[in-house]
Formats: sequence, C-alpha cells, structure tokens
Amino acid sequence: VNRSSSVSSDVIVDMATGEPLPPLLHDLAERARQAQALAYAPYSRFPVGAALRSRDGRVFVGANVENASYGLTVCAERTAMYQAVLAGARQVAAIAICTNLSPPAAPCGMCRQTLAEFAEEAQIVLLSPSGQAQVTTLSTLLPQAFRPSALIATTEAKDDHGRGE
Ligand code: THU
Repeated sequence: VNRSSSVSSDVIVDMATGEPLPPLLHDLAERARQAQALAYAPYSRFPVGAALRSRDGRVFVGANVENASYGLTVCAERTAMYQAVLAGARQVAAIAICTNLSPPAAPCGMCRQTLAEFAEEAQIVLLSPSGQAQVTTLSTLLPQAFRPSALIATTEAKDDHGRGE
C-alpha cells in the first residue's frame, strides 16, 4: 500500500536520525497536523497548523488566518503564540508546525522573532505530510535574536530616559 501521501497518525520520523520522534514531540506534531484543518487560507491555499507547548505543559494550537487585504494575514505560529500569551503562558518549550510541503517548510522570519520574545530556546518540529519531520531549535533558525533583555537592560541600567548620558 502506498501511504506516502496519506496523513497517518503512526510513526513520525526524525529525518536526521531515522528514529521516531520522542512521545512529547510526536504528540505536539499530531496536534499541529490536526490544527492545519483550522486554517483559513483561501488565497494561498497553503494551510499551516501549529501546536505550541508552554513550559508549564499546556498545549496551544494555531493556524494561519488570511485576509482579502493580503498583508493582514497572520501565520499559524503567531496565532498559536498569541493563544498561549492570552492564557498566561509566556514561555515556549516547543512548537510543531505542519504544512503540506515535503521536505517541510520552516517558519517565516516574523514568526521566528515573535517566538524569540517568549523563548530563550525552544525545540521546533517541522512536519511534512508523509510523516517526516525536521527537528531543530529556535536559536538555529534565529541566531543572535534581538531579545527583550536588550530593552530591559537598557531601562534598568540607565535612568536617563534613553538619552544615553
Ligand atoms: N504561513 C504560515 O502560517 N507560517 C509560516 O511560517 C509561513 C507562511 C502562511 C501565511 C500565508 O497564509 C500562507 O502560509 C502562505 O504564505
């Protein structure tokens, strides 16, 4: 049976090692795959699902939401991130992202920066329909991120309201 194009809930394989994903990442990848069905993507026809696990163990899902005014589109990763923030979960442990691309697509730059606001480091699982996954990290995808600490350090270290005196 050729199952290469079917969405299955069996093993998800780490492309780098050939090994099945560990259970927590497997579950997150499955949630991202399910969330892909929630996408509103009539213009691009490129549905994306995301599932984010916060440090406290909760899972939040997201999907891309497009708009007739194209630039208003919000990516799956950011809708998931905002669901988490609104629930009080401000620390990302891992995020899984599911597209229809094989090899899997990686998150856009805006989403990498958005995640960096809420994670020093995070595991990132990129899932393709065949059940192949690329496992990477936020710092790999966004080295030397501009972080909140830059601004917090500035305001705490200086009492000059940014005059730099
Ligand atoms: N998209 C995401 O949701 N996440 C990404 O990381 C890349 C792009 C969405 C935005 C748009 O709805 C569609 O995919 C095509 O760009």
